Formats: sequence, structure tokens, C-alpha cells
Amino acid sequence: MVDISTTIGSLRIKNPTMLASGIMDEDAGSMHRMIRSGAGAIVTKSIGLHAREGYPNPTVLELEYGLLNAMGLPNPGIDAYEDELQLLKKSRVPIIGSIYGATPDEFARLADTMQHCGAAAVELNVSCPHAKHYGMEVGCDTQLLYKIVTAVTEQVTIPVFVKISPNVTNIVEIASAAEQGNADAIVAINTVKAMKIDLETRQPILANKTGGYSGRAIKPIGVRCIYDLAQHIKLPLIGVGGITTGQDAVEYFMAGASAVQLGSAVYYRGPDVFRAVCTELKDWMSAHGYTNVSQLVGAALP
Ligand code: SIN
Repeated sequence: MVDISTTIGSLRIKNPTMLASGIMDEDAGSMHRMIRSGAGAIVTKSIGLHAREGYPNPTVLELEYGLLNAMGLPNPGIDAYEDELQLLKKSRVPIIGSIYGATPDEFARLADTMQHCGAAAVELNVSCPHAKHYGMEVGCDTQLLYKIVTAVTEQVTIPVFVKISPNVTNIVEIASAAEQGNADAIVAINTVKAMKIDLETRQPILANKTGGYSGRAIKPIGVRCIYDLAQHIKLPLIGVGGITTGQDAVEYFMAGASAVQLGSAVYYRGPDVFRAVCTELKDWMSAHGYTNVSQLVGAALP
């Protein structure tokens, strides 16, 4: 019998696939749909203290090998989003509240509200590749990141995950700052900073010019980041980036992840991708003699 349940610190999930932040998570209705589709946990849209419109269109492009987006962190603000979270309070799967901000105090206030609304954990988004003041510059400043994570872990009792960027040369140092601040898990990776130019207009197509690239093309980058982190960081790791099939999940587990998040795969394979990935994972595990996800975690590490 194959058991695909997994744990991330104190959080136990019935299967290791989570909905990544930013897709099908703008309201309780769409998140309920993903729960019905078999996701083991749901990460909300990234929410800030105040409403944000985001960038003008075009904000999303389908490219040859993946999706390029620059939404600009559009969200209704935490007070308005509370209503959606209240509708999910009795959810049978954990809801993980994604939050963004610029200061330790902002993150602590947001985390507190997420906890109050029943979130099972918070995910600190410190890695948007293009949002000015709220993105990578927060997550790449190790001292600021340490202060943010410390402020949040002192404020809430639920687990604190930190989502980090691949667009850096010191990913281990960044994760270490989060670890020192008492984070409970590292989520890697956010999207890869990228651009698409229209040959006729000779202009970048996205309104924001640069965006974040996701989908299958970035899977090797995510796997490499998890593999590097697993050798230096003691915290549980959650892999994200290009996971589309059960075998992709196995690859991330072997690199050191204990769970995975799916984002672009929902676009490519439809909302039922969670059930499909879990079936493929179970089939692969039983064909290869594995009975538990933990047996795969870190199997490729030196
Ligand atoms: C966006 O809202 O543009 C994307 C958020 C992110 O990449 O973290």
C-alpha cells in the first residue's frame, strides 16, 4: 500500500501536492474548486495590507515553453480578503495564507490576521521578481529578511513558510537568514525573471516589461535550487517550479523536497491535475517499490 501523505514540520497533509500562490486562489469559490480537485493544501493569492490594482494588461503571456506573467500583486487587501478566508474556515484541507509586505511590522500584522482567519500556516512572499518595494529586494536583503521572519514567528503560532527567489546567486544564504529567524519551511522557487519582445513593435510585450517565467522550462532550475538548499538547510523544503506530472514530483522529492506546489500545471492540465499527479506518483512509487514519500526525500543527495 502506497502512502503519499507528508509532513512539513508540524503540518500534516493528505497528499504532497499544494496549489501554488497566484492561480485559482483569488476567492473562496475558486479555492474550493481546487480542494475538490484533490489538492493536499491551498496557498492563497499573495495578500497585502491594502488593496492593489496590479499592472495594466497585458499581464500574462503563453510562450513556447511556459507562462510569463507580471500581475503586480493585485489583491483586495487583507480586510476585504478576510471574508473569503471566513468561507474557508471549515475547509478539510489546510489553507496557507500568502502575504507580502515591505517591513517586519507589515508582515507580522498580515500573519496575525491570517492566523485569526483560520490559516493553517503563512507563506511569506519575499520573492516576486518585479514588484517594486515588495518583491525580491525584500527577500534578497538577508538582514531585513531575518527581521521579517523573526517578527512573524514571534507574532504567530502557526507554521511560517518563506518563499524564495531563484534570481540570486546566494540562495543558501537567503534561506539561512529565514532559518535563523525560526521559519518552519522554505518554499523554492518563485518565478524566473524574464522578458518577451514583440519583433514588430520592437517593444517588450508585458505592460511591466519584465515578468516571472513559470512552467516546465523552469523545472531544472527549481530542482537545482532544492538540491543546493537540502545540503545546507535543516528546514523542510517545498518544491515549486514546473511540476506537471507525478514523475516531476518524484524528481523534486529526490532533490530534497517534502512536498510540491503546482501553479502553471493547473493551466496546462486543468484543475484536476492534482488528482492526476497523485495517481501518477502512486503508480510510480508502487512500480519502484516505495511505500512512503519520506523514502524518496533527498534520495539523490550526495
Ligand atoms: C504577480 O503578482 O505579479 C506575481 C507575484 C509573484 O511572483 O510573487
